[in-house]
Amino acid sequence: MAIRIDGKVVSLAVKERVKQQILENGDTPCLAVIIVGDDPASRVYVNNKKKACTETAIRSLEYALPPETTQDELLELIDKLNADHEVNGILCQLPLPKHIDETAVIERIAPDKDVDCFSNRNIGKLWTGTKVFEPCTPAGMIELLKYYNIDCDGKHCVIVGRSNIVGKPMAALMLEQGATVTICHSHTRNLSEITRQADILVAAVGKEHFFSADMIKDGAVVLDVGINRGEDGKLHGDVDFAAVEPKVSAITPVPGGCGPMTIAILMQNTLTAYRLQNQ
Ligand code: GUN
Repeated sequence: MAIRIDGKVVSLAVKERVKQQILENGDTPCLAVIIVGDDPASRVYVNNKKKACTETAIRSLEYALPPETTQDELLELIDKLNADHEVNGILCQLPLPKHIDETAVIERIAPDKDVDCFSNRNIGKLWTGTKVFEPCTPAGMIELLKYYNIDCDGKHCVIVGRSNIVGKPMAALMLEQGATVTICHSHTRNLSEITRQADILVAAVGKEHFFSADMIKDGAVVLDVGINRGEDGKLHGDVDFAAVEPKVSAITPVPGGCGPMTIAILMQNTLTAYRLQNQ
């Protein structure tokens, strides 16, 4: 029987750890969350982030800007928050409206307040082994593996998906853990041949039921980062869970697997930012 990796349990444990560290030390971290426009999914994410702040004794500030906000207005707000010593972390919810350059916005956030770990500086630090912040979604998956005593060292970890938020930073973290890492993507030839070699498979494609049982090795560990809204109106991962679960040793469900971990690591990064700025 496969272990069902429970992201709700592990994210609660991470948030509890962060809260205890804050309360024991009398820390007063503060996260500023910016949302531009009225994308319903972004609204849900931002609400969840604010709720997690409350759960972990982190103060949160919300800046909800109208969809017609100009890039200059947004950059001006970021400059103001960068200069505000009361604000330790700044997060701008993506995606942004099309007329705003996301890279310019990410790069404007002061690196020591970049709790998403999205900036070139923080990504560079990640790859050179000098990171300050954890990339939230990938670090959440590493936390899941640790909780279930699943070691990456010496394993062949295959990541399918090369995004800046998941695939690429996940490769850096797995490499750091001593894994042999392969990154596959939409141009990869003979994908199934490679995924069948995976001791640990990270599914980050964004297509419902993309991974069938014949693409997965017996006894593998499967981390499914996909969040796809199915025709049934429910959330589904990238993996055909019902078909794959019987042949693997551990697997994350969707929802309730990797998803809840991202915000838990964001809380941890906000505390890290506070402590960096108040040494
Ligand atoms: N949009 C989707 N995921 C994320 C995330 O982790 N951080 C931000 N800022 N925006 C997102």
